Amino acid sequence: MTTPTFTPRVFSGIQPSGGLTLGNYLGAIKRFVQMQEEGLPTVYCMVDLHAITVWQDPADLRHNTRELAAGFIASGISPEKSILINQSQVPEHAQLGWVFSCVARMGWMQRMTQFKDKAGKNTQNVSLGLFGYPALMAADILVYHATHVPVGEDQKQHLELTRDIATKFNHDYGVDFFPITEPVIEGAATRVMSLRDGSKKMSKSDPSDASRINMTDDADTIARKIRKAKTDPDALPSETEGLTERPEARNLVNIYAALSDQSVDQVLNEVGGQQFGSFKPLLAELAVAKLSPISTEMARLMSDPAEIDRILARGAEQAREITVPILEKTYEIMGMVR
Ligand code: TYM
Repeated sequence: MTTPTFTPRVFSGIQPSGGLTLGNYLGAIKRFVQMQEEGLPTVYCMVDLHAITVWQDPADLRHNTRELAAGFIASGISPEKSILINQSQVPEHAQLGWVFSCVARMGWMQRMTQFKDKAGKNTQNVSLGLFGYPALMAADILVYHATHVPVGEDQKQHLELTRDIATKFNHDYGVDFFPITEPVIEGAATRVMSLRDGSKKMSKSDPSDASRINMTDDADTIARKIRKAKTDPDALPSETEGLTERPEARNLVNIYAALSDQSVDQVLNEVGGQQFGSFKPLLAELAVAKLSPISTEMARLMSDPAEIDRILARGAEQAREITVPILEKTYEIMGMVR
């Protein structure tokens, strides 16, 4: 349970390390918009300092950060209602990140499955930042005293670590200063899978572009990728249990449910018994109807990058009204002379 003394605040972030995918949209951004519309104080972040844990070409990073901001806004994040920032313009993230590097234990970090996946056999050659990444992520959240963090399923372990860091800091200094944050992992599409392989997560780093839907894909591309998505030969079941052991079928039904704001049961009520030959065109039509307006609006926003930069500069000012006092108090608790 969240400590009752903390007022609710939502924080989440996405790496500007390449195009946005349907996974990012359904697992994260769609939920960000809902939480904003619920009237909660919300802070959403392009985590550029996280992106550089692997090499980023400077021109690409600049472009991808602006494009991600355009994606947030085109999806419904309003700079009037939410604070929209890129991480490096709010220096308190990195400052608290260092403090948390001194709180987190090596053993905790070594258990992170995402580090193991990303480093693979290459553990001696990846950056130190890639290993320490979850301490910075905890700082992103806790420098706002955020209580709720909407994310996809793959971030669950990092959020558990965030709770461990807050608990240890509070315990070591005998304070109740950092909230114990709640992950918000909800909806039909908390783990969108590759269109080519139902056992792999949909990811911007997959070498096959056909494995994912990019938020910048045009209508024809979206329809073609869905038509070619891997499936099995059976008809769709009428009950959820019928999707067990059918990862590709389950994935397409989950995507349909998330895009149409229905539960999987409701979708199967509607489409149970259909072959993929008739379900895929329905899904393609729905995906195009939901995603095309977003990609059109992204392109429009990208024609005026100076306006995006102004929004991010204003966001950083608003953010620092929250982060500066929290960092100051953290230093004071720790005995740093001010
Ligand atoms: P990132 O940039 O990999 O992904 C951003 C968000 O999209 C979700 N997501 C998915 N959800 C469902 N299905 C998928 N296939 C899929 N792929 C991605 C992710 O779960 C995430 O919510 N470490 C984070 C960024 C971060 C952050 C934070 C998040 C940095 N600091 C503080 C929350 C709070 C990351 O790499 O996400």
